[in-house]
Amino acid sequence: MKITVVGAGHVGATTAQRIAEKELANQVVLVDILEGIPQGKALDQWESAPVEGFDTRVIGTNGYEEAAGSDVTVITAGIARKPGMSRDDLLATNAKIVKTVTESVAKHSPNTILVLVSNPLDVMCYVALKTSGFDSKRVVGMAGILDTARYRSFLAMELNVSVRDIQAIVMGGHGDSMVPLPRYTTVAGVPLEQWMDQATIDRIVDRTRNGGAEIVKHLKTGSAYYAPSAAATEMVEAIVRDHRRVLPCAAWLTGEYGLSDVYVGVPVILGRNGVEKVVEISLSGDEKAALKESADHVKGTMEKLSL
Ligand code: APR
Repeated sequence: MKITVVGAGHVGATTAQRIAEKELANQVVLVDILEGIPQGKALDQWESAPVEGFDTRVIGTNGYEEAAGSDVTVITAGIARKPGMSRDDLLATNAKIVKTVTESVAKHSPNTILVLVSNPLDVMCYVALKTSGFDSKRVVGMAGILDTARYRSFLAMELNVSVRDIQAIVMGGHGDSMVPLPRYTTVAGVPLEQWMDQATIDRIVDRTRNGGAEIVKHLKTGSAYYAPSAAATEMVEAIVRDHRRVLPCAAWLTGEYGLSDVYVGVPVILGRNGVEKVVEISLSGDEKAALKESADHVKGTMEKLSL
């Protein structure tokens, strides 16, 4: 098993490290345009192997030859948000970067599964889909797991219980229009409304929507990477181990939920072939309308693209 991570910045390097520590592949290839950065970070990570006890070899490079024949490729290349910026503000710059990266990846690893992380996420998935010409099963985006993780972590703090006992799902685009679903949130199988009042739920949903911006505001020089890399690694693990996990991911829709020709966060079964299936859960009128609005926002951003 060989996994490539493109972009050796905060998200990419941390993802490579997590993948190596979990021994999800024999080899992890870290690629970046910056000379020396992927080489130095990869060597540093590999030198942690004797202490951490993993055998996954991490190598860094500026080209794609070493990455050839990768089973999974995580794309994190691009610029990150600064305070006051929305993810959509990254569109023009990151679309060019993701296009260039995808061309090289598709050429050297024609059978790879692409896991997109660069923002604005849903539109970057579309750029990778169009550029690679891959089947949409093999082009999937990381957003829902991160948004859900934020939501679960806030709920756990509020209730002072283990995050492990909180099951939840967040759908929609990776932006302000994301659609957390309190109706499908349970704590140890017990519906959320039995644990807290509506005002508290609304406050936590709002904090989840702005979860990324909250981190950017603290960091000032960039955006989140510990939780994003954990989420990307969970997707890689589900794929390489063929776990068939049911996870919220950005998937290309062809009629599911009444939506077509758009990437949006939905529950999928994630396995060795990528998106094995888009899972259609029943939504209320309001939830459906919120999902449609979120998808319309993604489509609006897609229309601003010039590929
Ligand atoms: N090819 C390869 N790497 C590239 C390219 C390219 N064409 N263009 C930029 N990069 C690299 C940069 O050199 C940098 O090392 O992408 C890396 C991005 O790293 P950071 O600036 O640290 O950004 P990071 O926090 O990792 O976020 C990356 O993920 O979560 C999203 O919104 C975030 O779009 C952003 C992306």
